Amino acid sequence: MSYYPTIKGLHITSVVFNIGFFSLRYFWMIRDSPMLSRKWPSRVSVLNDSFLLAFGVSLVAMSTQNPFQSPWLMAKLIGLVMYASFGTIAIKRGSNKLVRIAMGMISLLIVVYIVCVAINHSPSIPIMYGHYKQALSN
Ligand code: HEM
Repeated sequence: MSYYPTIKGLHITSVVFNIGFFSLRYFWMIRDSPMLSRKWPSRVSVLNDSFLLAFGVSLVAMSTQNPFQSPWLMAKLIGLVMYASFGTIAIKRGSNKLVRIAMGMISLLIVVYIVCVAINHSPSIPIMYGHYKQALSN
Protein backbone atom coordinates (compact mmCIF):
# COMPACT_ATOMS: atom_id res chain seq x y z
CA MET A 1 0.00 0.00 0.00
CA SER A 2 3.00 2.31 0.59
CA TYR A 3 3.55 2.80 -3.18
CA TYR A 4 -0.08 3.78 -3.70
CA PRO A 5 0.38 7.59 -3.49
CA THR A 6 3.39 7.43 -5.87
CA ILE A 7 1.49 5.34 -8.45
CA LYS A 8 -1.51 7.66 -8.08
CA GLY A 9 0.81 10.65 -8.69
CA LEU A 10 2.22 8.96 -11.81
CA HIS A 11 -1.32 8.13 -12.99
CA ILE A 12 -2.38 11.78 -12.60
CA THR A 13 0.82 12.95 -14.35
CA SER A 14 0.08 10.73 -17.35
CA VAL A 15 -3.54 11.96 -17.33
CA VAL A 16 -2.37 15.61 -17.45
CA PHE A 17 0.09 14.75 -20.24
CA ASN A 18 -2.60 12.82 -22.13
CA ILE A 19 -5.07 15.75 -22.06
CA GLY A 20 -2.38 18.30 -22.94
CA PHE A 21 -0.97 16.23 -25.80
CA PHE A 22 -4.42 15.37 -27.17
CA SER A 23 -5.28 19.11 -27.15
CA LEU A 24 -2.02 19.87 -28.99
CA ARG A 25 -2.72 17.24 -31.69
CA TYR A 26 -6.29 18.52 -31.97
CA PHE A 27 -4.90 22.04 -32.49
CA TRP A 28 -2.49 20.68 -35.16
CA MET A 29 -5.43 19.00 -36.90
CA ILE A 30 -7.43 22.26 -36.95
CA ARG A 31 -4.40 24.16 -38.34
CA ASP A 32 -3.63 21.40 -40.92
CA SER A 33 -0.17 21.23 -39.42
CA PRO A 34 2.38 18.86 -41.01
CA MET A 35 3.28 17.81 -37.43
CA LEU A 36 0.23 15.57 -37.46
CA SER A 37 1.58 13.36 -40.23
CA ARG A 38 4.86 12.75 -38.36
CA LYS A 39 5.27 9.39 -36.71
CA TRP A 40 6.57 10.48 -33.29
CA PRO A 41 3.42 12.25 -31.94
CA SER A 42 1.31 9.10 -32.24
CA ARG A 43 4.13 6.98 -30.78
CA VAL A 44 4.50 9.33 -27.80
CA SER A 45 0.73 9.24 -27.32
CA VAL A 46 0.54 5.40 -27.43
CA LEU A 47 3.46 5.17 -24.96
CA ASN A 48 1.86 7.61 -22.51
CA ASP A 49 -1.55 5.91 -22.82
CA SER A 50 0.07 2.55 -21.98
CA PHE A 51 1.54 4.08 -18.81
CA LEU A 52 -1.80 5.73 -17.93
CA LEU A 53 -3.59 2.40 -18.27
CA ALA A 54 -0.86 0.42 -16.46
CA PHE A 55 -0.86 2.86 -13.50
CA GLY A 56 -4.69 2.82 -13.42
CA VAL A 57 -4.81 -0.99 -13.42
CA SER A 58 -2.10 -1.06 -10.69
CA LEU A 59 -4.17 1.30 -8.51
CA VAL A 60 -7.20 -0.96 -8.96
CA ALA A 61 -5.14 -4.06 -8.08
CA MET A 62 -3.51 -2.38 -5.05
CA SER A 63 -6.83 -1.18 -3.66
CA THR A 64 -8.45 -4.58 -4.40
CA GLN A 65 -11.40 -2.87 -6.05
CA ASN A 66 -13.52 -4.75 -8.53
CA PRO A 67 -14.47 -2.58 -11.54
CA PHE A 68 -17.69 -4.62 -11.86
CA GLN A 69 -18.72 -3.64 -8.33
CA SER A 70 -17.54 -0.01 -8.41
CA PRO A 71 -19.88 2.02 -10.63
CA TRP A 72 -17.38 4.91 -10.82
CA LEU A 73 -14.60 2.62 -12.08
CA MET A 74 -16.93 1.06 -14.65
CA ALA A 75 -18.00 4.57 -15.76
CA LYS A 76 -14.30 5.46 -16.11
CA LEU A 77 -13.54 2.42 -18.24
CA ILE A 78 -16.55 3.03 -20.52
CA GLY A 79 -15.56 6.72 -20.70
CA LEU A 80 -12.01 5.74 -21.59
CA VAL A 81 -13.17 3.53 -24.51
CA MET A 82 -15.41 6.37 -25.77
CA TYR A 83 -12.65 8.97 -25.34
CA ALA A 84 -10.19 6.80 -27.31
CA SER A 85 -12.75 6.09 -30.08
CA PHE A 86 -13.92 9.69 -30.53
CA GLY A 87 -10.32 10.87 -30.18
CA THR A 88 -9.14 8.70 -33.09
CA ILE A 89 -11.96 10.03 -35.29
CA ALA A 90 -11.00 13.60 -34.27
CA ILE A 91 -7.31 13.26 -35.03
CA LYS A 92 -7.27 10.82 -37.94
CA ARG A 93 -10.33 9.02 -39.16
CA GLY A 94 -13.01 11.73 -39.43
CA SER A 95 -14.22 11.97 -43.04
CA ASN A 96 -14.03 15.76 -43.10
CA LYS A 97 -12.77 18.60 -40.93
CA LEU A 98 -16.16 19.53 -39.49
CA VAL A 99 -16.64 15.95 -38.28
CA ARG A 100 -13.11 15.90 -36.80
CA ILE A 101 -13.65 19.24 -35.00
CA ALA A 102 -16.99 18.07 -33.55
CA MET A 103 -15.51 14.72 -32.45
CA GLY A 104 -12.58 16.50 -30.80
CA MET A 105 -14.97 18.66 -28.76
CA ILE A 106 -16.94 15.57 -27.70
CA SER A 107 -13.67 13.83 -26.72
CA LEU A 108 -12.68 16.78 -24.51
CA LEU A 109 -16.11 16.77 -22.84
CA ILE A 110 -15.77 13.03 -22.21
CA VAL A 111 -12.33 13.39 -20.62
CA VAL A 112 -13.59 16.19 -18.36
CA TYR A 113 -16.39 13.81 -17.32
CA ILE A 114 -13.82 11.05 -16.57
CA VAL A 115 -11.81 13.44 -14.37
CA CYS A 116 -15.03 14.41 -12.48
CA VAL A 117 -15.86 10.72 -12.01
CA ALA A 118 -12.33 10.04 -10.70
CA ILE A 119 -12.40 12.94 -8.23
CA ASN A 120 -15.94 12.30 -6.96
CA HIS A 121 -15.71 8.49 -7.03
CA SER A 122 -19.16 8.64 -8.56
CA PRO A 123 -20.47 8.24 -12.13
CA SER A 124 -22.79 11.23 -11.68
CA ILE A 125 -21.36 14.72 -11.70
CA PRO A 126 -22.57 17.49 -9.34
CA ILE A 127 -24.63 19.29 -11.99
CA MET A 128 -26.59 16.10 -12.64
CA TYR A 129 -30.18 15.73 -11.48
CA GLY A 130 -29.44 13.15 -8.75
CA HIS A 131 -27.16 15.51 -6.87
CA TYR A 132 -29.71 18.34 -7.03
CA LYS A 133 -32.42 16.03 -5.79
CA GLN A 134 -30.22 14.92 -2.88
CA ALA A 135 -29.26 18.51 -2.04
CA LEU A 136 -32.91 19.63 -2.10
CA SER A 137 -34.03 16.81 0.20
CA ASN A 138 -31.37 17.72 2.84
C1 HEM B 1 -8.53 9.02 -19.66
C2 HEM B 1 -8.58 8.15 -18.68
C3 HEM B 1 -8.42 8.48 -17.22
C4 HEM B 1 -8.47 9.69 -16.57
C5 HEM B 1 -8.72 11.07 -17.19
C6 HEM B 1 -8.26 9.44 -15.16
C7 HEM B 1 -8.21 10.42 -14.18
C8 HEM B 1 -7.93 10.19 -12.86
C9 HEM B 1 -7.74 11.22 -11.85
C10 HEM B 1 -7.82 12.71 -12.11
C11 HEM B 1 -7.51 10.58 -10.66
C12 HEM B 1 -7.27 11.26 -9.29
C13 HEM B 1 -8.55 11.40 -8.54
C14 HEM B 1 -8.35 12.04 -7.19
O1 HEM B 1 -7.86 13.17 -7.11
O2 HEM B 1 -8.66 11.41 -6.18
C15 HEM B 1 -7.55 9.16 -10.91
C16 HEM B 1 -7.41 8.19 -9.93
C17 HEM B 1 -7.60 6.85 -10.15
N1 HEM B 1 -7.79 6.24 -11.37
FE1 HEM B 1 -7.86 7.15 -13.18
N2 HEM B 1 -8.08 8.09 -14.98
C18 HEM B 1 -8.19 7.47 -16.20
C19 HEM B 1 -8.08 6.12 -16.45
C20 HEM B 1 -8.10 5.14 -15.48
C21 HEM B 1 -8.17 3.72 -15.72
C22 HEM B 1 -8.23 3.09 -17.12
C23 HEM B 1 -8.21 3.11 -14.50
C24 HEM B 1 -8.33 1.67 -14.14
C25 HEM B 1 -8.17 0.65 -14.94
C26 HEM B 1 -8.14 4.14 -13.49
C27 HEM B 1 -8.17 3.92 -12.12
C28 HEM B 1 -7.97 4.88 -11.17
C29 HEM B 1 -7.90 4.61 -9.74
C30 HEM B 1 -8.07 3.26 -9.06
C31 HEM B 1 -7.66 5.85 -9.11
C32 HEM B 1 -7.41 6.08 -7.61
C33 HEM B 1 -8.62 6.62 -6.92
C34 HEM B 1 -8.30 6.99 -5.47
O3 HEM B 1 -7.52 6.32 -4.80
O4 HEM B 1 -8.87 7.98 -5.01
N3 HEM B 1 -8.06 5.37 -14.13
N4 HEM B 1 -7.81 8.95 -12.24
